[in-house]
Amino acid sequence: MSDKPAELKLWGGRFTGATDPLMNLYNASLPYDQKMYAADLEGTKVYTQGLQKLGLITEHELSEIHRGLEQIGKEWASGEFVEKDGDEDIHTANERRLGEIIGRGISGKVHTGRSRNDQVATDMRIFVRDELTKILNFLKELILTIIKRADTEMDVLMPGYTHLQRAQPIRWSHWLSMYATYFTEDYKRLEQIIERLNVSPLGAGALAGHPYGIDREFLAENLGFNGVIGNSLAAVSDRDFVVETMFWSSLFMNHVSRFSEDLIIYSTAEFGFIKLADAYSTGSSLMPQKKNPDSLELLRGKSGRVFGSLAGFLMSIKSIPSTYNKDMQEDKEPLFDCLTTVEHSVLISTGVISTLSINKEAMEGALTMDMLATDLADYLVRKGVPFRETHHISGECVKTAEDEKLSGIDQLTLEQFKKIDSRFEDDVKDTFSFEVSVERRTATGGTARSAVKKQLESLKSQITK
Ligand code: ARG
Repeated sequence: MSDKPAELKLWGGRFTGATDPLMNLYNASLPYDQKMYAADLEGTKVYTQGLQKLGLITEHELSEIHRGLEQIGKEWASGEFVEKDGDEDIHTANERRLGEIIGRGISGKVHTGRSRNDQVATDMRIFVRDELTKILNFLKELILTIIKRADTEMDVLMPGYTHLQRAQPIRWSHWLSMYATYFTEDYKRLEQIIERLNVSPLGAGALAGHPYGIDREFLAENLGFNGVIGNSLAAVSDRDFVVETMFWSSLFMNHVSRFSEDLIIYSTAEFGFIKLADAYSTGSSLMPQKKNPDSLELLRGKSGRVFGSLAGFLMSIKSIPSTYNKDMQEDKEPLFDCLTTVEHSVLISTGVISTLSINKEAMEGALTMDMLATDLADYLVRKGVPFRETHHISGECVKTAEDEKLSGIDQLTLEQFKKIDSRFEDDVKDTFSFEVSVERRTATGGTARSAVKKQLESLKSQITK
């Protein structure tokens, strides 16, 4: 960017000196905000309709403007748009080009009553709304993929963990359904965020409002907004929607990261529960035997940059005075990075989960009889013994089996059981089945087949209403 004389810049009237060339670079947002070119053109298209309704531009001028905007859109889409010195951001670039196409006599009217302050806020909301809607649909696909897998592999049991220690047997589908539950909450939260951000700042002017009484409701409706922001100062200064998007992304990536961590653990040779498809793993440059879960490690690792964008942007805006300040231009790079990272992460997660293979034998082979110690306690509860007592008795059974060097509590003889507590009877042996244990948990949310099926149905209906 050159140190072009100030009078050639769109805001150049009162400036006499040239700008420091580095300042031009430092100030410019075009390298990244050109992503919003379509939103910017759409905003101008509707805004000029509003001006025409006010009689500030003629029908003919309006059609010339729309012709020019359409051409600019084509130039951006095909990569033919030529950036020029003085194109500070997408708003100035588009307006400069419009002047070249239809003449400055007409293009000079499009900014009447508008400021880049309400313009950029409008463009951002359109852009973020459309990106988040795309992400919402990809997220739905991810959830449906998990649900489908859970339905198909309902028979498979595995250990459920707390503290990463074997705890109780669960269905693999129950584990899948847990993440489908997290992601469904993310889905609903995202729907609310899209709804909340979809309000129009356009027509707020620089800060104080519109001097010609533009019909802001008309502008909002024609840009697909649900309404207008009711205070012009708030309209130009509010970046809560950026913060909310980054917060949503952070929470979602936190879920993705935990999901990935589980799968990384399950993919180790020590566990051997799952195997990633080749499409989502890579080899080692040195060790020929290795297959690394890079996709999952990247999903886990990229969560960090998303959390960073949230923290960083909150720092950028925490003490700026009202209303617009240039600090706010710092919303774009972290926001765009966040949206791209999340979008790709949703797609990669879907790819990973739909292509990995499971090893049923390894999963079920990892179940051990001690994981039924609670079921043994419950056995005596059913015979009327208070749980606090049965918990203790079951613990004694575990200890005896260990002392006797048996492979599990199921190997104790009825005599040994009776010696620990006389209320044990022959039917105690029916307790030692993982399937029976799992199928007892029929209460809502549990791991029994019927309960998991209900969870899956409910999740599906929540995202496909
Ligand atoms: N590129 C600027 C931004 O992204 C546009 C708004 C400029 N407004 C101003 N008063 N300088 O924030």
